[in-house]
Formats: sequence, structure tokens, C-alpha cells
Amino acid sequence: MVIAVDGPAASGKGTIARALARHFGLPHMDTGMLYRAVALSMFRFGGDPGNEFEAVRACEGVAQVDPGDPELRSEAVSAIASRISAYPGVRSALLERQRGFAASSDGAVLDGRDIGTVIAPHASAKLFVTASPEVRAQRRVRELLERGMPGHYEDVLIDIRARDERDSHRQAAPLKQASDADLLDTSDMDIDEAIAAAIRLVEARLAHA
Ligand code: DC
Repeated sequence: MVIAVDGPAASGKGTIARALARHFGLPHMDTGMLYRAVALSMFRFGGDPGNEFEAVRACEGVAQVDPGDPELRSEAVSAIASRISAYPGVRSALLERQRGFAASSDGAVLDGRDIGTVIAPHASAKLFVTASPEVRAQRRVRELLERGMPGHYEDVLIDIRARDERDSHRQAAPLKQASDADLLDTSDMDIDEAIAAAIRLVEARLAHA
């Protein structure tokens, strides 16, 4: 059983995907971390995010990045991740790792931007999780402050809109709802409500499979 969870930045998809993995007893992969790891590697060791060749080369360093590194979530790294994720060469360098995880015999939950459309088009259940840009900016600011990082609402909102624009309009695997995905708008939900709604949607899909 594979569950695909896609959506824009700070929509709640990561928390929802982790909760689904726990609920259904499945392993989970946050695929955004792969793009962030490439970005962090460029940020630390140099490399021009405007150059696809250099970004593809940085994909080799992904396994060396500590997944607990707080800098993976910084705004600087997020901005680089959004840029380098537009390169077809970067996407294909990271493809097998994600497809392999999705093909595991234990089943899997993956969250990202193109799980339901590209990585696991035959997933048993697909969710497209979204929320208004304003709500997402508020959540991101809270998250940054909790991590002891500076977060200014207006700046974060501008970043979120810019990232949405780039993620949705790039040529390679743009962020979009798969035609067979269920839409979950979490704008007016707290996280427990969003998780409960996600579990209901997935269970309904599985019941009709
Ligand atoms: O989900 P996130 O914010 O951690 O993702 C970081 C960046 O990586 C984001 O700008 C979009 C990109 N990404 C992607 O293009 N495809 C994915 N499957 C996951 C993330």
C-alpha cells in the first residue's frame, strides 16, 4: 500500500504524512528533505544554484547530510531547494531513491510535490493538502520561532508566494493535484482535525479500492 501526500510549503502535509504512516504502520519518506539536502550541500560547500550541472553534482552528497540538521529548514536553504528542484537533472538524480522507497514490500507513505503525479502514479490513496498562503505563512513563522530562528510574517508570506509560483510553474514535474487525488484544505483546521480528515479520506479510498 502506497499513500501519496502532495501539497505546497507549510500546508501541513509533512505532519499529516507522518501521522498517516503511524496510523497505517508504514515507513515514511519526506522527499522535500532530499531537495533540501542538495541545497544545504551547495550552501555549505559552494556551488551556484543557478547552474544545473553544479546542482546535479551536489546530488551525490545527499546521503552525507544529517537529516536532523536544523539548517535544512532555514529560509536560505528553502529558497535554494526551490530553485534547484526545477532542474530536470536534479529530479532524475533523486528519482530512483524515491521510487525504490515507494516500491518497498512494506508499503510506504511519501510526501512531496510530485508523488501522486510522477513518483507513485499508482498509489493506493493520494491526498493533495493545501491551505491559504496567509495561513501557511503564519504556521511557518510559528515553526521558525519555535526553532529559535527569526521569522517575519511579511517576508515569509512573500517567500511562500514566490515558492508556490516557482513550484507550480516549472516545466519539470510542477506542483499540481493529481486527477485522482483527494483535496484536503487545512486552512480552517487545527492539526488534529487535519490528521483525522486525512485518515478518513485514505480509509474511504482503500474501502473502494
Ligand atoms: O516540502 P519542502 O518544503 O520540504 O520541499 C523543499 C523544496 O523541494 C520545495 O521548494 C519543492 C521541492 N520539492 C519538489 O520539487 N518535489 C518534491 N517531491 C519535494 C520537494
